[in-house]
Amino acid sequence: MSQRSCLSIILAAGEGTRMKSAVPKVLHTIAGLPMVAHVVKAAEAAGSGELALVIGHGADEMRKAALKFAPRAEAFVQEKRLGTAHAVLAARAAISKGYDDILVMFGDTPLIDPEALAAARLKLAEGAAVVVVGFRTENPSGYGRLIEKAGKLVAIQEEKDCSDEEKKITFCNGGLMAVAGRHALKLLDQVGSKNAKGEYYLTDIVEIAAAQGLDVVATEASFENALGINNRAELAQAEGIWQQRRRREAMLSGVTLIAPETVFFSHDTEIGADTVVEPNVWFGPGVKIATGAKIHAFSHIEGATIASNCDVGPFARLRPGADLRTKAKVGNFCEVKQAIVEEGAKVNHLTYIGDARIGAGANIGAGTITCNYDGYSKFFTDIGEGAFIGSNSSLVAPVSIGKGGYIASGSVITESVPDDALAFGRARQRTLPGKGKELRERFSQAAAARKKG
Ligand code: UD1
Ligand code: MG
Repeated sequence: MSQRSCLSIILAAGEGTRMKSAVPKVLHTIAGLPMVAHVVKAAEAAGSGELALVIGHGADEMRKAALKFAPRAEAFVQEKRLGTAHAVLAARAAISKGYDDILVMFGDTPLIDPEALAAARLKLAEGAAVVVVGFRTENPSGYGRLIEKAGKLVAIQEEKDCSDEEKKITFCNGGLMAVAGRHALKLLDQVGSKNAKGEYYLTDIVEIAAAQGLDVVATEASFENALGINNRAELAQAEGIWQQRRRREAMLSGVTLIAPETVFFSHDTEIGADTVVEPNVWFGPGVKIATGAKIHAFSHIEGATIASNCDVGPFARLRPGADLRTKAKVGNFCEVKQAIVEEGAKVNHLTYIGDARIGAGANIGAGTITCNYDGYSKFFTDIGEGAFIGSNSSLVAPVSIGKGGYIASGSVITESVPDDALAFGRARQRTLPGKGKELRERFSQAAAARKKG
């Protein structure tokens, strides 16, 4: 298969106003990645080397954003939306370069399965001229119906052009098509627009090819391959299906999810075997977790690297650049951003660590804050190996605490502390016997006098 050259054409010139959004439809995200990028990934996974993206007139914003995810793709503009065959022909220059296989996909159908694409390519390799990836549904309304005669696909009839008899067919066009490169332009150029919508239908190439005695094949795949997104309810439905797939994949690869339906992954989450994820955990983009970690309930994690056997949460927030090394601990109500927490270091309670390094085995007491920002710039805090930071301390960056340094609780540390030193950054305590009682009496008398007068 891999030696066959392949061009994927992704159609994304549909206006679609039902998202009620300033953002073009195919740039809305599933698992943090624009839908069109999911389609690109599927094409790449099916071995498609070249990509053509068909966008609408004036879709510059979309061109820029989409090409970010598919830098190798070439964008083509379909000036007027005259139908799916017309859209494919916008990429005529790419098709003319000559490919063995041409795949056509829709940018708003993000859950397509690379295996379905690969299966379609296999049929081309076996000699088919056109392959349609179909699916079966109880509710075929709105989809093109696959018309078969004597077990052979002979045409696709769009809903609006269907007879009552044809409307009963439940085998539908999912929208994915594979066309042999050597026939593609010839077939597409024969498509006319005599139909209920007056559009150039890509689906017409089935009838054209079949009439010419070319081999036309329908394969069958799951409904998800056809799930087109037109509004935010369908977007959420696709997100749900994507998450379900990913959770299953994670569990089958050795990750324990205690309540899988409450854990949300990103498109790029990496998570190692024997890691346990408790309920209600959110993974934003850029998270890598090694083996044997524990992610406790209600943690929010993005852009973070978590080494093996770390312990995170409950209620931890790891922001981009959080880098937890082996057996590090970040406990409840702690936020870590752009900071290395070295091996075995503990940040257990109610703490903010930002722009910092915490040395191996250091212990950060409850309520410690790295004061990393003066309103204009960010500054670094370096905490040495085995240091102890007493509870409720503020470390005013730039500042460093040496190896084995010991900070008294409640300190405000503005000057660096050498190795093994003890630092107090607070007023010493004074205790005045009997003064508490005296003070109370004075205040109570003053209050009584005020009431009278
Ligand atoms: C299409 C299929 C139908 C199939 C269904 C699956 C045709 C004629 N019909 O119908 O058989 O069951 O998908 O979802 O192909 N687009 C353009 N330019 C155009 C027209 C469309 O880029 O001029 C793009 C759209 O952005 C969209 C895709 O092509 O991504 C499909 O167009 P859409 O209008 O949604 O086709 P359907 O009526 O859903
Ligand atoms: Mg559609």
